[in-house]
Amino acid sequence: RVWLADTVTLALPWPAALPADARARVEAVLAPLAEHRRRTFALRVARWWDDLVAGLTPYPDPPALAARVLELAAAAYRDRGEDLHLLDERRSLEPDWFQRPDVVGYAGYAERLTEEGTLAAVAGLGDHLSDLGVRYLHLMPLLQPRPAPNDGGYAVADYRSVRSDLGTMEDLRGLTTTLRERGISVCLDLVLNHVAREHAWARAAREGDEHYRRYFHVYPDRELPDAYERTLLEVFPDFAPGNFTWDEQLQGWVWTTFNDYQWDLAWDNPDVFAELADIILFLANQGVEILRLDAIAFLWKRMGTQCQNEPEVHQLTQALRALARITAPALVFKAEAIVGPNEVVHYLGQGQHHGKVSDLAYHNSLMVQIWSMLASADARLATHALGRFPVVPATTAWITYLRCHDDIGWAIDDDDARSVMVDGHGHRTFLSDYYSGEFPGSWATGLVFQHNPATGDKRISGSAASLAGLERALELTERAIDEQGAQEAASAVDEAVARLLLGYAVVYGFGGIPVIWSGDEVASLGDDAWAQAPETAADNRWVHRPRLDAQAVAEAAAAPGSAPGRVLRGMQQLARARSGLPHLHASVAAEVVAAPDPAVFVVVRRHPVGPMVQLYNLTATPRTVPGWWVRELGLPVDQTIDALNGYPPSLSADGSVYLSTYQPVWLVRP
Ligand code: GLC
Repeated sequence: RVWLADTVTLALPWPAALPADARARVEAVLAPLAEHRRRTFALRVARWWDDLVAGLTPYPDPPALAARVLELAAAAYRDRGEDLHLLDERRSLEPDWFQRPDVVGYAGYAERLTEEGTLAAVAGLGDHLSDLGVRYLHLMPLLQPRPAPNDGGYAVADYRSVRSDLGTMEDLRGLTTTLRERGISVCLDLVLNHVAREHAWARAAREGDEHYRRYFHVYPDRELPDAYERTLLEVFPDFAPGNFTWDEQLQGWVWTTFNDYQWDLAWDNPDVFAELADIILFLANQGVEILRLDAIAFLWKRMGTQCQNEPEVHQLTQALRALARITAPALVFKAEAIVGPNEVVHYLGQGQHHGKVSDLAYHNSLMVQIWSMLASADARLATHALGRFPVVPATTAWITYLRCHDDIGWAIDDDDARSVMVDGHGHRTFLSDYYSGEFPGSWATGLVFQHNPATGDKRISGSAASLAGLERALELTERAIDEQGAQEAASAVDEAVARLLLGYAVVYGFGGIPVIWSGDEVASLGDDAWAQAPETAADNRWVHRPRLDAQAVAEAAAAPGSAPGRVLRGMQQLARARSGLPHLHASVAAEVVAAPDPAVFVVVRRHPVGPMVQLYNLTATPRTVPGWWVRELGLPVDQTIDALNGYPPSLSADGSVYLSTYQPVWLVRP
């Protein structure tokens, strides 16, 4: 055997379909590597080659393009750090790592997480994150953007350098390594629909370089833009109306779905595909483990459509995913597609793309339905809408969340609303009015974002705590002049805290990676400074992008009875409860069930260890759920515990489960 290992060199197991000349070029790139490394690469190519070629069918010569990008992949593989090769092996042995119940996510702006405001300083947050059970950290855009305004970094001028105020690429590499040692994986944005008009490609195009002009959709006159506009929607109707921008230097109209300085890339150009593929692999080599594919729905344009969710988007994702699996299998893709239920499931893979596109996708509908349920104290619409969600592959997971850096658009489907005898438009208006505080009796203090008079849409900005009523409750506390006023204010605070925690309990219980939006864990109210700063004054989403104040975190931890203290403890408790519950593994689907009382939202998770029944009281008044009804779901209530506190649930004399104000209960067999 020693003789064999020493002298026999096996041919590398390339797929037969890989053309000989491409094989030779790739072998030349891999030449400096040890044989076992080259073999692993060849095996992976054999495994994913067909998916890569199939994903490239939108382009004229898929095998040729596949061979071209395979050379890029080989170079990235050759340059990949030893620690990351090891990570690739580890993740290949535990491909479900991100589906596990002990994974909690956290998201925020690197410069707003610490006092120093640098990447290196983020490592110092480790204890706070560990206390919250965080295993996944999404740092908001930190690659070099254009000078402000830059849409919070979503207008990238250079994908290969880090914003200089935050640090360097080496700092990023260092941070991903340090955090990984603490069990935390870093997620970064990949803005792939557009670049800043200051990006080198856009600059070259403006200087008249034809090659780079073809990286963008540029039209000499309004004929085609007008034709496209007929079916396009508007993302920022208020501060960036229209989807095209005239550029003097280009002497053309350039496609700009978002702001006028964010130029959409022409993904129908194979050069654009190759550039972005290379950037993905470069970021993977910095130790980034999850890439958030920003605004992915918009990549492919087709006349006569909304130019969102076109089938080519999924083909291109499949090709990118295959390349990543060949080079850096530890890398996970997360789709940011804020689209309806029937569309969003395609981002996790449906039909031929099953298991071949993104692993994670944002559950925007769940987020919207949670706020809708809290405002209406009624679970019927949510139960119907979430209940008809198509099945997603068991290898994927939702990103569940209550708030993020963006506004909330009231994505309530008209048909869903009609099915429960609600008028869709009316309900959306109600939610906007409720959360902007205009609706009589509302507890919320949000702001209207991008009112579109043409459609009646009014999106909402505001922190979770403000939308849950804490800001208003604290105002009441300050204004209280007598004992009764103080008592009313105190119960308003209690209710706001309970509402916020109820929202997060649904987020933690639904299944998938629950992601905390930075500041929510200490009931942060928001940041009014946005209105004064010229770069942010036009964009009130900055109200809910506050700085994480280390002192506020320390105070919350030291004062467990305060509102921030209760929220912090509550969220730590949710993470602890979650981590011990196999029912919450993301391979298990969430079922929503209509309870006898429409003011109670019910989620059931059927795992081979037994069912888990989650009950959420959507109101400030106590509710009960009949024991016999829970038993029909497979759980005799007198043989259960509430996993949120480890005790048997409170049962009334007739065996009903009792739920206090906004109480969540997670019933399982002990
Ligand atoms: C995504 C981001 C949003 C940004 C947009 C354009 O939707 O979440 O903040 O404005 O993409 O990049």
